[in-house]
Amino acid sequence: MPDLQIERNKSLLAMNTMALDSTAEYFCSASTLKEVHQALSFAKDHNLSVTPLGAGSNVILASNLSGLVLHLGLKGCESAEVIGGADGSIDVTFDAGENWHDMVLMCLDRGWFGLENLSLIPGNMGAAAIQNIGAYGVELSSLLVSLQVVDIQSGALFELGSEACQFSYRDSVFKQSLKDKYIITQLTLRLSTEPNINIDYPALSAYFIELNKDPTPQMVSDAVCDIRREKLPDPNKLANVGSFFKNPVINQSALAELQCVEGKGEVPFYSQPDGSVKVPAAWLIDKCKFRGAQRGGVGVHDKQALVLVNYRNDANNDSAREILSLAKEIQATVKARFGIDLEVEPRIYGPV
Ligand code: EPU
Repeated sequence: MPDLQIERNKSLLAMNTMALDSTAEYFCSASTLKEVHQALSFAKDHNLSVTPLGAGSNVILASNLSGLVLHLGLKGCESAEVIGGADGSIDVTFDAGENWHDMVLMCLDRGWFGLENLSLIPGNMGAAAIQNIGAYGVELSSLLVSLQVVDIQSGALFELGSEACQFSYRDSVFKQSLKDKYIITQLTLRLSTEPNINIDYPALSAYFIELNKDPTPQMVSDAVCDIRREKLPDPNKLANVGSFFKNPVINQSALAELQCVEGKGEVPFYSQPDGSVKVPAAWLIDKCKFRGAQRGGVGVHDKQALVLVNYRNDANNDSAREILSLAKEIQATVKARFGIDLEVEPRIYGPV
């Protein structure tokens, strides 16, 4: 197997944005489809489990990882006009290892629009579909045409359409029935050469309130970057994995109860098409006075209560335990005060 370099006992400290000190029993980085297949053959021959890893921006590595950690480093991007599609639609296929934000900027540069609300999301293209990334009023699911995936067991390569991904809020089939079954090697998004501005998200419309005309896609991207930089810590400077919990979805009577206790106009919520409402987990956590709290070397970000941060960026065995214990403390406090369960958003590897 000349092309592929397999390493043993590889530190993943620099490969996860929460800066957790985890070691992979075996590790390799695949930059081509052939190398993905070689890695899977190696794992099969040595009876090893396979853990795919992108940019490590949505994982909590709470223990060492046995088996083979397969880093997806495939790079490339191709575009194709959509035959018979709406005017100006263009399908763009990205390899899994491309950086999400770099691709957003590249698309803007080429006049391919639709990704601007998703600017500055950390991570790589391949992982975007797993949690159906979403921000400022746009979810990946509304743009995704198909994925190229490799079956971890058989090595078979095939395409999955958007329907098969069973997308919902921060969820997909890859977090449910197909968890750990496939490696995503490419994704194809349908973009547009015509700008289609969406600034309905409250923070975004507030940003443009003074402006008397529609902003350009570049202005929307810049605004999203500004808003994110204001609230969310840069993982290169302060270790984090973005939102640590999903925003809970509750029914109307639970909302009425909440409004009764907290005051009617006090509870922020987003109405869902089925009549339920999404309540910002950040608000619930904030109300419980966790914003800015610190426990050992970890804490809750002082500008966004939904983000747990690791103040350490060196090897320290306590960080993962402290993060998980803080997460449990937050869940228990929110449950006791509001009766609402908070679901952890990133994938946790190791004891929960
Ligand atoms: N709020 C507080 N305290 C805080 C922060 C926010 O009370 O410390 C309240 C405010 O009322 C605010 C509301 O929460 O209006 C919503 O806050 P924000 O607009 O920052 O969004 P979010 O619901 O906390 C979600 C996503 C983010 C995404 C933003 C923008 C989830 C789990 N998180 O956060 O996604 O960037 O909306 O669309 O849905 C991520 O997934 O990692 C992520 C950052």
